[in-house]
Amino acid sequence: MKPTKNLLLLFLFLSGISLNAQKKATKTIAPKEQFIAELMAKMTIDEKIGQLNLPTSGDITTGQANSSNVAKNIEQGKVGGLFNIKSVAKIKEVQKIAVEKSRLKIPLLFGMDVIHGYETTFPIPLGLSCTWDMNAIKRSAQIAAQEASADGINWTFSPMVDISRDPRWGRVSEGSGEDAYLGSQVAKAMVTGYQGDDLSKNNTLLSCVKHFALYGAPEAGRDYNTVDMSRIRMYNEYFPPYKAAIDAGVGSVMASFNEIDGIPATGNKWLMTDVLRKQWGFKGFVVTDYTGIMEMEYHGVGDLQTVSALALKAGIEMDMVSDGFLGTLKKSLDEGKVTIQEIDRAVRLILNAKYDLGLFHDPYRYCDEKRAKTEIFTTLNRSEARKIAAQSLVLLKNDNQLLPLKKSGTVAVIGPLADAKENMAGTWSVATKQENSISLLAGIQSVVGTSAKVLYAKGSNLDYDEQLEERATMFGKTLHRDKRTKEELLSEAVKIANQSDVIILAIGESAEFSGESSSRTNIKIPQAQKDLLAALQKTGKPIVLTLFTGRPLDLTDENATVPAILNTWFAGSEAGYAIADVLFGNENPSGKLTMTFPRTIGQIPIYYAAKNTGRPLGNKEGKFEKFKTNYIDERNEPLFPFGFGLSYTTFSYGNLSISSNKMAANETIKVSVPVTNSGNYDGKEVVQLYIRDVVGSVTRPIKELKGFQKIEFKKGETKTVTFEITIDDLKFYNSDLQFVAEPGKFEVFIGTNSDTTSKIEFDLVN
Ligand code: BGC
Repeated sequence: MKPTKNLLLLFLFLSGISLNAQKKATKTIAPKEQFIAELMAKMTIDEKIGQLNLPTSGDITTGQANSSNVAKNIEQGKVGGLFNIKSVAKIKEVQKIAVEKSRLKIPLLFGMDVIHGYETTFPIPLGLSCTWDMNAIKRSAQIAAQEASADGINWTFSPMVDISRDPRWGRVSEGSGEDAYLGSQVAKAMVTGYQGDDLSKNNTLLSCVKHFALYGAPEAGRDYNTVDMSRIRMYNEYFPPYKAAIDAGVGSVMASFNEIDGIPATGNKWLMTDVLRKQWGFKGFVVTDYTGIMEMEYHGVGDLQTVSALALKAGIEMDMVSDGFLGTLKKSLDEGKVTIQEIDRAVRLILNAKYDLGLFHDPYRYCDEKRAKTEIFTTLNRSEARKIAAQSLVLLKNDNQLLPLKKSGTVAVIGPLADAKENMAGTWSVATKQENSISLLAGIQSVVGTSAKVLYAKGSNLDYDEQLEERATMFGKTLHRDKRTKEELLSEAVKIANQSDVIILAIGESAEFSGESSSRTNIKIPQAQKDLLAALQKTGKPIVLTLFTGRPLDLTDENATVPAILNTWFAGSEAGYAIADVLFGNENPSGKLTMTFPRTIGQIPIYYAAKNTGRPLGNKEGKFEKFKTNYIDERNEPLFPFGFGLSYTTFSYGNLSISSNKMAANETIKVSVPVTNSGNYDGKEVVQLYIRDVVGSVTRPIKELKGFQKIEFKKGETKTVTFEITIDDLKFYNSDLQFVAEPGKFEVFIGTNSDTTSKIEFDLVN
């Protein structure tokens, strides 16, 4: 026999063993409804309320699980799930307590913030969305699910789909930017990536879409702040991605911290029951965010007992960390403040999820220690992550084709983010082993090998303010603050710059400068790094600004003086390789912004799908016009619009053509455009289609994204790109919140970013 055949037989033999093992572990149990009805008939009221309780893992570590407080609660049936415990061994041990020591042996859910990968870490979600590649995004979720489920996790608190148009808000890094249509596509890709087609498979995760709702619109961009928004805006601009996740079958939803119409989301019955369940038909369960119930006391809507009852009655099923359900629901039941039907409804939904995950069939389904050893941070997963990361980078400027760089001569790699592996994964990367991430310096050294000489200097700290740096480098994401003086750091950097042919300057934000509770009032590059840039500019050497950031920044100064800017976000565990691949031309950048970059913070909120207003500006050259909607001290346009991103090649767009200039509601029409790769490299282009509803019963945005295709073009190649427009692309929520398409004129724009003016018209007829 040939060796390959031997291997095949061995594989079949081993898979047979594991299939048999799985079969043995899998119990045959009654169908779902019957099984859960029978189980609930046995449950005491305390056991029922226990299923609605989601504490953190607290003091559980391997070996002492049995003696911990959480363990006691599990034994007594007071816990429905736990979150953010890492390692299959610990999870197995804790699951054992639930299924061997609790009276009814109900297995636990194990949740985690698996936000952009597990140990193999993908770009932060804002970066991932800039790939505009839904297959890549779905693949990142599949790999995350494969790795997390191999380590005992069965539930992820992802995707975060909060639309945001305010880069001051630190959590823009965790979402997909400003656009409802793109955000909806990403939501669907993530949910289907995590959950697959069968939740009970041991390599899928229950997904949790968050934070429902409107969390991305806090006043002043300050995290957790008040949200106040018209219903028409909610339905048209902020709700679609949550709804897309529900339509894709997401199994759970997380409530947001903010209030909506004066009632905190966690206690908002209109939101949780009328919208989510009655209008959208959601069948899974809703969990609060961390201490969401308890926080309603601070919002000022009642004491813990009152707000816990409010949450249950609103439609919340699981209490994360507040101990509000556990501590007060029984009393509320006795006092007639909640009903047993309300409690039962919630319990049933939690048990349904456990059933769907296959936990009643086999509570250890996700606890296969062999998988944990072989399926996490694998070479294969990392190579996929490297490719995906390269696609998330956005080339903002490239004068005189400074990029790609040649793999020769001497390259100076300078900046506080250059040798910063702890920061590469970005915010919300709890499972990442930071020491395994690839820094930019390491990535460059690996990609250029011995072909070029690489010099390194730090050049500056993140900021002159040491305390700010501490706050922006939490959770071990240190930048190893350098104690040398500013002058010493600068002079070392200038010295190596003078010995080099080109400078790769790695500056911007650290990983925890964005993310939860990291709002900023200033979105410029910190002054210490601006000073470093200025000192290096004096050397006259060409500079490639390699930007690290979790949010759109004000790059007006840098854009005016630096020849090349590559925005790299935080590209994950493989960041250094991916960035070096792009800098040195192994990969051609193809990312496009999913959030507008303002010229100045004063323009915020700034987004492409704005309204025309009654006094639109008559020019696009930035000329001030009195009594028109503009600023006296700044032009209206952003620095970089939504959808913007350059390539090493160029794409030229021909004239648009349309299959008909009239469309009836039951018809579709096609709009086409020839696109040519007119430059010198093969490359990918995101061809974008926007629609304007010219006259409506309510005012409509000047442009809305309604389609996009990411297409590969060989050098010199022309392809005709065709989009089909259906009636759904023309619908919006009117002032009665009905989803309608109104007859009349529509404009269709196709181009390389949201600024495109190339358009064609048609009429929707009755
Ligand atoms: C965040 C959520 C997260 C939860 C659990 C909260 O502070 O807002 O996004 O899922 O913590 O870690």
